[in-house]
Amino acid sequence: MNMSHAAVLGAGTIGASWAALFLASGRSVAVYEPDEGAEPRVRAYIARAWETMTQLGLTGRGDPGAITFHQSAARAVEGAGFVQENVPERVAIKHATFAEIEPELEAGAIVASSASGLTLGQMQEGWRDPAPLILGHPFNPPHLIPLVEVMGNDRTGAGVIAAAEAFYADLGKVTIRVKKEVPGHVANRLQAAVWREAIHLVQEGVASVGDVDRAMTAGPGLRWAAMGPTALFGLGAGDGGLAAFCEHFSDTFNGWWDDLGTPHLTPEVARMLEKGLQDETGGASVEARATERDAMIVALLRALGGAT
Ligand SMILES: NC(=O)c1ccc[n+]([C@@H]2O[C@H](COP(=O)([O-])OP(=O)(O)OC[C@H]3O[C@@H](n4cnc5c(N)ncnc54)[C@H](O)[C@@H]3O)[C@@H](O)[C@H]2O)c1
Repeated sequence: MNMSHAAVLGAGTIGASWAALFLASGRSVAVYEPDEGAEPRVRAYIARAWETMTQLGLTGRGDPGAITFHQSAARAVEGAGFVQENVPERVAIKHATFAEIEPELEAGAIVASSASGLTLGQMQEGWRDPAPLILGHPFNPPHLIPLVEVMGNDRTGAGVIAAAEAFYADLGKVTIRVKKEVPGHVANRLQAAVWREAIHLVQEGVASVGDVDRAMTAGPGLRWAAMGPTALFGLGAGDGGLAAFCEHFSDTFNGWWDDLGTPHLTPEVARMLEKGLQDETGGASVEARATERDAMIVALLRALGGAT
């Protein structure tokens, strides 16, 4: 199987970023993108991403020009050993794309879907035989954030998950296996749980939007870039490890959990958050803040020893 040539289906926010990373890894990339005006946009995105990836030492093997653009998904997957699907998150569009590519896939090719909300089972319904299909869910932007959530099930071909994990590892990604279908997979559920309580704290007047965000970035967020919550709490009660921590703090955590809020993201709540963010950031544009975020992520990744 030719893993040195990949296809990217749909080159919007996520697909353009995947294309940049595949190119940086020394692969050639065929892009399917029905929007006729997309090519200059995608090339400009790749040029910007290239600078960032170069700072991280990721582009040594790559050629940003090794890319072709196609108006047909069937043509784009020709000769590709790995296909990353990033078309819009609507099941009819996913199914139509899968139906178009299935007869054209190389034997043994892997198709990974970036889908955030649709489940693997829903997407498998668009196939005659979904053996090549897995979930390969990235975190935006995939050329910078290491995580990919990988999932297969009993309809997935033997060895497909392991081969996909090896492909992602070669790109410098960190993969986790999702073993059961749940809305939002794993990482988005973790984000949703934390954001729910952040909103609750603001709603209750406990702290401002800016201070709740700061409580995260200057506190747990910094530790969580180093270790996950369970590993960290395993260090929170001395030599007794996690067992001692659980024994000491079970009443405390159970009490906090009983007190956590369950807000809903209504238009009123959205306005409250928007005002709080405006108070915090003043007139800074979204673009300026995104640039600041990306610079910090690059600095963190470099401190942690590369992109992964
Ligand atoms: N945006 C994120 O933060 C994020 C993160 C992880 C995963 N995802 C997933 O990645 C996938 C793509 O999301 P996105 O944010 O890049 O979307 P997007 O709207 O930015 O990009 C989708 C691209 O697909 C193209 N496309 C291909 N076939 C099409 C068709 N038949 N009809 C219309 N457009 C078509 C569009 O022109 C567009 O360029 C989704 O499944 C989404 O859930 C998104």
